Amino acid sequence: MADFFAHETAVIDEGCEIGKGTKIWHFSHIMPGCTLGENCNIGQNVVISPKVVLGKNVKVQNNVSIYEGVTCDEDVFLGPSMVFTNVINPRSAVNRKNQYLKTHVGKGASIGANATIVCGHNIGQFAFIGAGAVVTKEVADYALVVGNPAHQMGWMSEFGQRLEFDNDGIAKCIESNETYKLENNKVVKL
Ligand SMILES: CC(C)(COP(=O)(O)OP(=O)(O)OC[C@H]1O[C@@H](n2cnc3c(N)ncnc32)[C@H](O)[C@@H]1OP(=O)(O)O)[C@@H](O)C(=O)NCCC(=O)NCCS
Repeated sequence: MADFFAHETAVIDEGCEIGKGTKIWHFSHIMPGCTLGENCNIGQNVVISPKVVLGKNVKVQNNVSIYEGVTCDEDVFLGPSMVFTNVINPRSAVNRKNQYLKTHVGKGASIGANATIVCGHNIGQFAFIGAGAVVTKEVADYALVVGNPAHQMGWMSEFGQRLEFDNDGIAKCIESNETYKLENNKVVKL
C-alpha cells in the first residue's frame, strides 16, 4: 500500500516514485516516470510532466505546471500559478521536443505567485523570486529578485527575511539570528 495520499480525482501515471507522506490534491496529474520526494504537497490543478524530479518537502501551490527538464531540490516553494517554460522559441508547427532547456531550482528557493521562469536559467539555493517576476537570467544563492525582467533588489535569509549587510559584509537574520557574509557578490551562511 502506497504511503502517500492522492485525492480520488488525481491521476498518477506509470513509473512514478512518490515519497512517503506526500499529498496530491484535486485534479492534479503526475505524468510517467516522475520522482517526488517525501512530504511534498502538490496543490490543486497541478501538472507535473514526465521525468520531473522533486526533492523532499517541495510545496507546489495551485495551478502550477512543472515541465520536463525542471528539477527542484528539497524545500522548494512554488507559488500559486507560477510558470516554468522549457522551449525558448516555440512554434506550433515546429517540433522542438528534443530541444527542452533545463531549469534547476536549488534547495530552499521560493518562487512567488505568477512568476515566470524563462527556461535554461537556474535558480540558486534559498533564492527568492518576487510575485510576478519574469526571470531571464541565473539567480544567485540567497538573491531576491523582482520585476520584468527580474532584477536583484537584495538578499534573503533561509527564513525569508531581508539581509542588510554592514560595511564588513556581515548580516544577521532577524528571525533566526543566523549570520551571513557577502563577499565578491556571493552570500554564504557562517
Ligand atoms: C518580493 C517581496 C518578498 C518583497 O517584500 P518586502 O521586502 O516586504 O518589500 P516591500 O513591500 O517593502 O517593497 C519594497 C519595494 O519593492 C517593490 N516590490 C515588492 N514586491 C515586488 C514585486 N513582487 N515585484 C516588483 N516590485 C516589488 C515595492 O513596490 C517597493 O518598491 P518602492 O520601494 O519603490 O516603494 C514580496 O513583495 C513578494 O513578492 N513576495 C512574494 C509573495 C508571494 O508570491 N507569495 C506566494 C504564496 S501566497
